[in-house]
Amino acid sequence: MEILLCPDAQIAARSAADLMTEALLGATAPCLGLATGGTMLPVYADLVARGDDWSAALTFNLDEYVGLSSDHPASYHTYMDKLLFRQLARRPRASYLPRGDSPDPGQEADTYEALIARSGGIDLQLLGIGRNGHIGFNEPGSPLSSRTRVVTLTDSTKEANARFFGPGENQPSEAISMGIATILEARACVLLATGMAKAQAIARLVNGPAGLDCPATALRDHGAVTVILDAEAAALL
Ligand code: GLP
Repeated sequence: MEILLCPDAQIAARSAADLMTEALLGATAPCLGLATGGTMLPVYADLVARGDDWSAALTFNLDEYVGLSSDHPASYHTYMDKLLFRQLARRPRASYLPRGDSPDPGQEADTYEALIARSGGIDLQLLGIGRNGHIGFNEPGSPLSSRTRVVTLTDSTKEANARFFGPGENQPSEAISMGIATILEARACVLLATGMAKAQAIARLVNGPAGLDCPATALRDHGAVTVILDAEAAALL
């Protein structure tokens, strides 16, 4: 893993956007893996401001909440549409996220996994990290061999993401997420972490033992991972 230490979150986001732009413009038919969460807000703002043409690209998002329709305000479909796709003058040729309101989420997960494979795989996968070390929605205990599937969210993940839901609104307890094996098949990955809340997970990713209890540590076996950190996320290194 290559570790890139940045003085602040804005510069860290710009560095992640730089790698995304390189992948976008460096191939005739780029396939980009996208992520959601608060960490990615400045990355998408930066990418939009660059004004690049995304029309040759395919995109695949990591995950979506089970039970949320694509127009639900807290769905990852809405997040991506609002923060990236709708803002681009030339949007991707196709953008995929698992369908959260599929009548058969298990089947939807299988179809999504097959679609990624059929598209030739992901060139660069953008990743955030959960406070408990999750990537995508692969919670602690997720097998290294896991593929896109329905996963149950831990209470700590639900708590961390509660801010995206209205007060009193029922938060989904399941998601469809790319698996660890799916993520590791991306030709390259960039993991961005900013803020103190991620410092512990990052210390474990970089220096602690690899193990299923910290899913991000699976990335160590991948030959092309860049971990981009601001000073706070790197504070315990
Ligand atoms: C969610 C997403 C992850 C993301 C994580 C961190 O759980 N499924 O892909 O990495 O949140 O989010 P944030 O950037 O808001 O801390």
